[in-house]
Amino acid sequence: MTMDALKRQAAARALEYVEDGMRLGLGTGSTARHFVELLGERVRDGLKVVGVPTSEATRADAERCGVPLTTLDDLDRLDLTVDGADEIDPDLNLTKGGGGALLREKIVAAASDRMIVIADETKWVAGLGRFPLPIEVIPFGLAATRRAITEVFAKAGVSGELAVRKQPDGHAFVTDGGHWIFDAHLGQIPDASYLAGLLNPIPGVVEHGLFIGLARVAMLAGAEGIRIVE
Ligand code: 5RP
Repeated sequence: MTMDALKRQAAARALEYVEDGMRLGLGTGSTARHFVELLGERVRDGLKVVGVPTSEATRADAERCGVPLTTLDDLDRLDLTVDGADEIDPDLNLTKGGGGALLREKIVAAASDRMIVIADETKWVAGLGRFPLPIEVIPFGLAATRRAITEVFAKAGVSGELAVRKQPDGHAFVTDGGHWIFDAHLGQIPDASYLAGLLNPIPGVVEHGLFIGLARVAMLAGAEGIRIVE
């Protein structure tokens, strides 16, 4: 089975948790796109839901698939968010932001009663850090922000290159919020929760890709089928 087929299987399993009338957070990335497509099929069959997209790309996908959309300004809470991840650890802490949508993804996940992560088994790790940690930053004062991040890395017992994410044309990748992203190649993070707490207050850091305590369920698709971790 291809990786893409595995991702679709995980997405299909998450769809079983969707009920009529739900307010949904719609994740970003290739796995989340499968979920949006499958959700669109159910909507065409009469399911009534509304979704809040976590990126402009997901907004376009949802519109193409006929999923009705709203915003967090029009709702108190969301019932469920379904999103992918770049890494998932045994405590269901995540690294996210490989697709650059971490800021909206975290806002939407935090506004949800439940977050289900969907992925193929390759995303499962014993500890976070193998995937470069995305840190969304304000372009103004970039060198000062880089220095501050490097200092908290030392405090958290991690080190590694901080590379500004680039587009194929060599220009900086710009997020939906108009910010840039540092990808931090750390290798391993001894205490992801501690590092997250140190990164949050740095002026110039808008958000980072450590999702601590947000996911409640992971659906991991592998050759043996779907493994559900709660
Ligand atoms: C985007 C994300 C994605 O969920 C993450 O990168 C996983 O993507 P994919 O499903 O394509 O592997 O965090 O910001």
